[in-house]
Amino acid sequence: TTPRETDPASVPAPLVRPRRLRSTPAMRRLVAETTLAPRQLVLPAFVADGITEPKPISSLPGVVQHTVDSLRAEAVAAAEAGLGGIMLFGVPHDADKDATGSCGAAADGILNRALEAVREEVGDDLVVMADTCLDEFTDHGHCGVLGTDPRGEQVVDNDATLAAYTELAVAQAAAGAHVVGPSGMMDGQIIAIREALDRAGFHDVAVFAYSAKYASAFYGPFREAVGSSLRGDRRTYQQDPANLRESLREVRLDLDEGADMVMVKPAMSYLDVLRQTAELSDVPVAAYQVSGEYAMISAAAERGWIDHDPAVMESLTSMRRAGADIVLTYWALHAANLLADGW
Ligand code: PBG
Repeated sequence: TTPRETDPASVPAPLVRPRRLRSTPAMRRLVAETTLAPRQLVLPAFVADGITEPKPISSLPGVVQHTVDSLRAEAVAAAEAGLGGIMLFGVPHDADKDATGSCGAAADGILNRALEAVREEVGDDLVVMADTCLDEFTDHGHCGVLGTDPRGEQVVDNDATLAAYTELAVAQAAAGAHVVGPSGMMDGQIIAIREALDRAGFHDVAVFAYSAKYASAFYGPFREAVGSSLRGDRRTYQQDPANLRESLREVRLDLDEGADMVMVKPAMSYLDVLRQTAELSDVPVAAYQVSGEYAMISAAAERGWIDHDPAVMESLTSMRRAGADIVLTYWALHAANLLADGW
């Protein structure tokens, strides 16, 4: 080792020492600016038609497609853990998918049966939410119904889709959803759904708008989770990752249309959007830690390249710090357990 050339005594002592507030665990706990609590977490969950056992999703280790019965148990666990809510996604039989996603609105469709079962199980102890979108139910996998433009090109028909969404939302409310979550990025979807719910007497069913939803590569594992039939992409309706101002416009429109909560999705690559949305919004703001974000941390941890629990908690804390009141995460129950253990 070479001898140090500078005499430490000759270096000026710092006047300000921020490290003082990091000196012990108790001190760090005292000055922590951001909190994470189970009530702020929402568990997204999948329920599949025609399975008799929960079915693992290979690209989402630890996450399964539930049967209606295993979903009941999961919802009870979520309520007991003090989670804020559960967001349900339906996975129908391939044979039940059609061009307009009609099994989504059918009272005996898998998602509506699951909503009914979960609501019966948890009552009002847990907020029961439904994904209000067509992609799980259409044979082409798009979030809307297809049509042709005046030149004969195939397009996702915005206004025809709105009509389908209103039926979906009313059916979900009738099945017991406290909250409907339109995630299809169609123009005007919030006001269309709000009016339909009100007309049907569901004034107290809240609309949770996926306001700023990007056409993201991080939804990969979700497509396996719901057995998506999609070929191609969603770039004519979901947003370009290059844009921030556009998100703020989407959020403003959704607020004007009566959204009760707004969401930014994905989360980790969009924390700037989340921060600015939180500054703009006068309703609660959510972030969705999507399947690819879960898969990345899980895969790296599996290889021993990253420490699982600290990475999970750091990621969730970053979303809260950026301004999310609510975080949707496949780790909701795991994180609640860690918090209960004094994390
Ligand atoms: C659409 C929907 C998607 C996700 C939630 N709602 C998929 C998509 O837009 O392609 C993705 C969630 C995730 O990746 O965890 N109904």
